[in-house]
Amino acid sequence: MKIDGSTFLVTGGASGLGRATVERLLAHGGRVAILDLERSAGAQVAAELGPHVLFTPCDVTSADNVAAAMDAAAGRFGPIRGLVNCAGVAIAEKTHGKRGPHDLGSFTFVIQVNLIGTFNCIRLAAARMAQNDPGEDGERGVIVNTASVAAFDGQIGQAAYSASKGGVVGMTLPIARDLAEVGIRVCTIAPGLFDTPLHGDAARAGRGSRSPAQVPFPSRLGRPAEYAALACHIIENVMLNGGDHPGWTAPSAWPRARRAGSGARCRRSDGRVELPRVGAPARGGRSSTPSARRTARGSRRPAVGRFTITIPACEFRLKWLACLSEVVTIPDESPNGVSLASTSASS
Ligand SMILES: NC(=O)c1ccc[n+]([C@@H]2O[C@H](COP(=O)([O-])OP(=O)(O)OC[C@H]3O[C@@H](n4cnc5c(N)ncnc54)[C@H](O)[C@@H]3O)[C@@H](O)[C@H]2O)c1
Repeated sequence: MKIDGSTFLVTGGASGLGRATVERLLAHGGRVAILDLERSAGAQVAAELGPHVLFTPCDVTSADNVAAAMDAAAGRFGPIRGLVNCAGVAIAEKTHGKRGPHDLGSFTFVIQVNLIGTFNCIRLAAARMAQNDPGEDGERGVIVNTASVAAFDGQIGQAAYSASKGGVVGMTLPIARDLAEVGIRVCTIAPGLFDTPLHGDAARAGRGSRSPAQVPFPSRLGRPAEYAALACHIIENVMLNGGDHPGWTAPSAWPRARRAGSGARCRRSDGRVELPRVGAPARGGRSSTPSARRTARGSRRPAVGRFTITIPACEFRLKWLACLSEVVTIPDESPNGVSLASTSASS
């Protein structure tokens, strides 16, 4: 998808990773609507960034709010071509701790914002993108979600957060398959620890074991601009579809993720990266269940999300991303009930 002249929605665009994405899209000629809470810094950010950025206040968990925000964005800038989902919240609370069982309300809240809010934006954006004229390769739209390494390698106190991000990872491939027939791509980035208000404050303060000093290389938090660079690359690279972007999970999480057979994490012995097909067995041989075998035999359509990256530049990029993923291997030892991250939605 060409960024120059296209209209994009960035949820959570008032802060952190979302804001950096807004700035990069703008720098590459895009028109951007920030979908963020009314009480966020969205209005201020839009005023700072100029007339090609619009703040459309909304709560991503509300169908009416999001629909109105998308209509306002399309009314101002024209058809929506891309959505980057960055709105999110994080808590740290043990399943059972000194204060008793995990609060059900806080668990529900995190799932509601991170998982259901993401799906809400996807479904409403996809309905609008499906009406677009197809571009090169028949592409009508592109959607980039934000999960977390916690989807694969959750730490103490991350039951709710990991469940919400695991849900985002899990729905990426089926949604990509659903939307392939209308020419909409879907990818998910699973970042490590980045320097934003969500996790950065705790990490800079070295709370728990989140000190950047423990990161092998480079020994620092990720910069939001580095996330934005990947989000924009996914938007522009039409061959990326149907999985969470390889290289962003902690190296320690890779073997487990591969065993689980989830997402886009099959690195072949020749160094190429391959996404799993419908019904494909985890390690050669027969598919693992009868229903998977039936699906594999019965499917006439080419599987979405199966691609091999052979372009040298991409391989270089994946290696570069693998370095960044080192940032995420820090365990979280937060006590029960203490929130490490306070966002405008959770505070
Ligand atoms: N920063 C990290 O280290 C890190 C790591 C992994 C994943 N992530 C994920 O990246 C995404 C962005 O996080 P960030 O670090 O930029 O955080 P951030 O707190 O800087 O930004 C999050 C934004 O989401 C908005 N938001 C929260 N609830 C909302 C709602 N209901 N409706 C609309 N907007 C809402 C907030 O107002 C805020 O502007 C989140 O999904 C987060 O889970 C962050």
